[in-house]
Amino acid sequence: MPIKKICCIGAGYVGGPSCSVMAMKCPDITVTVVDKSRERIAQWNSEKLPIYEPGLDAVVRECRGRNLFFSTDIETAIREAELIFISVNTPTKTFGMGKGRAADLKYVEGAARMIASVAAGDKIVVEKSTVPVRAAESVLKILRANNKPGACYQILSNPEFLAEGTAIDDLLNADRVLIGGEDTPEGQAAIHELSWVYEHWIPRSRIVTMNTWSSELSKLAPNAFLAQRISSINSLSAVCEATGADVSEVAKAVGLDSRIGSKFLQASVGFGGSCFQKDILNLVYICECLNLPEVAAYWQQVIDMNEYQMTRFSEKVIQSLFNTVTGKQIALLGFAFKKNTGDTRESPAIHVAKTLLDEGARLHIYDPKVDSSQIMHDLTHPMMTDQPENVKNLIEIHSDPYTATNGVHAIALCTEWDEFLNLDYGKIYEGMMKPAYVFDGRKILDHKKLIKIGFHVQTIGKRLQRPLVNRLWGSPNQV
Ligand code: UDX
Ligand code: ADP
Repeated sequence: MPIKKICCIGAGYVGGPSCSVMAMKCPDITVTVVDKSRERIAQWNSEKLPIYEPGLDAVVRECRGRNLFFSTDIETAIREAELIFISVNTPTKTFGMGKGRAADLKYVEGAARMIASVAAGDKIVVEKSTVPVRAAESVLKILRANNKPGACYQILSNPEFLAEGTAIDDLLNADRVLIGGEDTPEGQAAIHELSWVYEHWIPRSRIVTMNTWSSELSKLAPNAFLAQRISSINSLSAVCEATGADVSEVAKAVGLDSRIGSKFLQASVGFGGSCFQKDILNLVYICECLNLPEVAAYWQQVIDMNEYQMTRFSEKVIQSLFNTVTGKQIALLGFAFKKNTGDTRESPAIHVAKTLLDEGARLHIYDPKVDSSQIMHDLTHPMMTDQPENVKNLIEIHSDPYTATNGVHAIALCTEWDEFLNLDYGKIYEGMMKPAYVFDGRKILDHKKLIKIGFHVQTIGKRLQRPLVNRLWGSPNQV
């Protein structure tokens, strides 16, 4: 029986874009994305979608109301669908056993219990959220222990590999689609049905089937490998700064080895995002539970190196500003964890901001896509501070990079937004306190030009020549 109706539980960064593309490519299937958050669903049904993702608006506009629906009526959508994706969030646990490392599966469990309470008949339940290995088994236990008469479940693992900022292209032209399932006739039939959905637009050769546990681990593994590459190049960036080598030149040379390749070798202030840290911590926790401490320590080092890199950057700012930033004005350009997204989860900008705020700096923050309420929320969260009112008084959020930088002592660039390349830095320099500093945490700016204007420039993985300091701070210097 071909699939006619799909329900996706969770209308977030994964469920929303992946099901929108699925609806666009499968006009013969009705796709309903449900969420318990009324606000989120209202946004999905409005002109301003809850997430910023290039190309997403057009996809939603094409399909919404045709075969793509966003709803809070979770029960009806589950009851009517033959195939149900679980795309709820799986944050790192903040308390109890595995605190700070294990994935919190309470939302997955909630979704499974909801399915068990309303579903009747055959259902294929597909785990799309990132989960620890063997989570499918737990979901199945819940489903089978609570099922209604006549309900029969197959559970599949189908991890999502989209990256934010390029999600639509990643979904349309996926390198691979993984489907893990049970090695039984029913399990294989379920794999076949899900594969049929993807075959609407993904070549069969790119759809890889395997056992459920391999599929679950194959979600964590690439994120761990990618993050490991960034930590590796970031570790060398420290060596470059100490020796006079340039990390971009080293990365280029390393990437030319066809066995290594050039991607994910951009040294930075550190990696962020909802996946890398969470997935590695999850892997570390699994390894500890499996009594594999050496493996756990190996992967933990990737996280530790990232912490080191973020701390190193913040310390560089403080040290350069004569070892004190108390009362100093600092502009933070970029708050999202990478360009082309409004997502701030685990953003290095939060780490940098916290360190500077702890030192008493006054921050002027500008990001083209992050809402000011999100920035305030991130920096006043109880995990960040026990004095939210003080923090609020130290932050000003701007809607323009020129007002954000006017009158500040230093600029710390934390996100590689393209628009930062083309700002009028001469004008910015004029408006800043002197000596004027730029800390380029993404190594994207034209440093020679900035130095010529008169800025003191510091970046990741490269020592820069300082401007000849003029006694009268302010007049342009020669490189
Ligand atoms: C990642 C994976 O790429 C994706 O396959 C998975 O499904 C989810 O996790 P995402 O976190 O959205 O995607 O973005 P990604 O492009 O991987 O970047 C993650 C972080 O690494 C960002 O903070 C980015 O700025 C940083 N990064 C990336 C670097 O610092 N250097 C690089 O060379 C590449
Ligand atoms: P991700 O990046 O993994 O997509 P998000 O946090 O962006 O994570 O989205 C997850 C969504 O799942 C949230 O909008 C949340 O409200 C929703 N959600 C969590 N649990 C349930 C549930 N039991 N039923 C419906 N929606 C849920």
